[in-house]
Amino acid sequence: MEKTVVLRNILENRRSTFPKSYKSGNIDAEILKEILASAEFTPSHKRTRPWRFTIFENEEKKQLGAHLAALYKSTTPPQLFLEKKYLDISDKIEKAAAIITISVNFSNLVPEWEEIAATAMAVQNMYLTASAHDIGCYWSTPKMAAQLTDFLSLKDSQRCLGLFYLGLIEENSKQ
Ligand SMILES: Cc1cc2nc3c(=O)[nH]c(=O)nc-3n(C[C@H](O)[C@H](O)[C@H](O)COP(=O)(O)O)c2cc1C
Repeated sequence: MEKTVVLRNILENRRSTFPKSYKSGNIDAEILKEILASAEFTPSHKRTRPWRFTIFENEEKKQLGAHLAALYKSTTPPQLFLEKKYLDISDKIEKAAAIITISVNFSNLVPEWEEIAATAMAVQNMYLTASAHDIGCYWSTPKMAAQLTDFLSLKDSQRCLGLFYLGLIEENSKQ
């Protein structure tokens, strides 16, 4: 098939798939590696390569879910706290086969927005690669992401921009 046709097909078929549509099961390690590696083809001004990704699976993923739920509880005023939302946080993480935390490293060599833009492009590469492999994924930006600094051992010049959920797609949720 012509390159442009293949590309257009991948672009048109990329979509966000949410944890409710994931089935249990792990993502093949080679595919996961390929998804992460696809981020490396992203352009960045002065080649600062500002994206920082950390992958969470199994027990570490569980710890991330528990940590996010605890953050929600400790930072939400009691009158706004919703028990269902609190329980949903770890449930959603549990349903995902893997979570990649999305962070940006500000180099001070170019404006911050350029490094955020480059990081978003890297996420798009992962979105496209995951979609091409029929792996469900989506970028989630909960408020708590900004509070993951200590958990992720981020430096002052780094910021977490969200979570990239990945999971095998339930057959009847495929489009
Ligand atoms: C920067 C960014 C942040 C996002 N944050 C969230 C989010 O917090 N919650 C959510 O449900 N979807 C989030 N999404 C996913 C979009 O809402 C999703 O792309 C949209 O529903 C369109 O669907 P599509 O990706 O299948 O085209 C985010 C997407 C981007 C690019």
